[in-house]
Amino acid sequence: MSDLQAIVDSAKTAFAACTAPADLENAKAQYLGKTGRITELMKGMAALSVEEKKSLGAQINVTKQAVEAALNARREALMDAAMNAQLATEALDVTLPGRARASGGLHPVSLTQERIESIFGSMGFDVADGPEIENDWFNFTALNTPEDHPARSMHDTFYVEPLDGVATDTPPLLRTHTSPMQIRHATAHVKAWRARQAVAGNGAATEGACDSMPEIRVIAPGRTYRVDSDATHSPMFHQCEGLWIGENVSFKDLKVVFTDFCKTFFESDDLVLRFRPSFFPFTEPSAEIDIQFASGPLAGRWLEVAGSGQVHPNVVRNMGLDPERYIGFAFGMGMDRLTMLRYGVNDLRLFFDGDLRFLSQFQ
Ligand code: DAH
Repeated sequence: MSDLQAIVDSAKTAFAACTAPADLENAKAQYLGKTGRITELMKGMAALSVEEKKSLGAQINVTKQAVEAALNARREALMDAAMNAQLATEALDVTLPGRARASGGLHPVSLTQERIESIFGSMGFDVADGPEIENDWFNFTALNTPEDHPARSMHDTFYVEPLDGVATDTPPLLRTHTSPMQIRHATAHVKAWRARQAVAGNGAATEGACDSMPEIRVIAPGRTYRVDSDATHSPMFHQCEGLWIGENVSFKDLKVVFTDFCKTFFESDDLVLRFRPSFFPFTEPSAEIDIQFASGPLAGRWLEVAGSGQVHPNVVRNMGLDPERYIGFAFGMGMDRLTMLRYGVNDLRLFFDGDLRFLSQFQ
């Protein structure tokens, strides 16, 4: 093997041993740098004859080109390796599913509540909201259900420890129905009306201060509680109270309003209502309202949706009004039950388990 070939071979070996670009540049200097082996060979040619220069010069050039080729090949190999290493560490798995942002939505019972509020709103009803921790007066006594009244036993509930230092004859309780809102809303309404009348009595012109009370027309949706738990009862459930009091509000108005409501709520004219005589202490007469669909999966069955009746004179009195002059009706409906009927759900507990596979079907 000629000396020149030995130089090429040793350069190839030296380049192959380099694993970093900086090492490779150092190795290059040993062959092609100012004092490198090939540069030294070229310098040595100065002393040669023209003939020798010609043949040796050509050979040295071939050697130089071979060393440069080996250098470039190694450079490329190192660049490829660096690129592959980078690709491996920064790899993207384009087959992974994307991270979608889950979109929220309203609970089916909230959808029902919004629907009820908008339907009754269109009929001129206000929407009132009140406390879930009630006292005995609003939950029972003011609603014509005195202590020891047998109707109380159907309203077994959860009693709450009174706050330290607050003396109460009866402990606070979680309200068993939304009916206390009848008294709360009506007394506030009456108080505001009387205040306007008092101002008007002083000579000021005040809107709504007329001698006759502006009608009370309100619904009060919200959470209610009873010691009850099975497929159709939950210890926490939702009701919506309705109240309409004026000088000339009759049972006929209740029938019209409630029938209209049901047809709009269920988006069907194909249903009939039945007012079945019943008993509630706060209404007289009282009726349970059943509906029957003419078509669909529930066709032909009577389904109870609300309690109702003409507000009892004692209750009108507890609102601060004269029962000889003011009269009206009230109703209380189960919002969970309405939701079950509208969507065809047969187990109430599904609403409160918080399982997104169930709840997301209502979005
Ligand atoms: N509060 C009653 C209940 O929870 C339902 C009810 C019946 C409400 C008759 C009313 C009514 O306003 O007039 O069982």
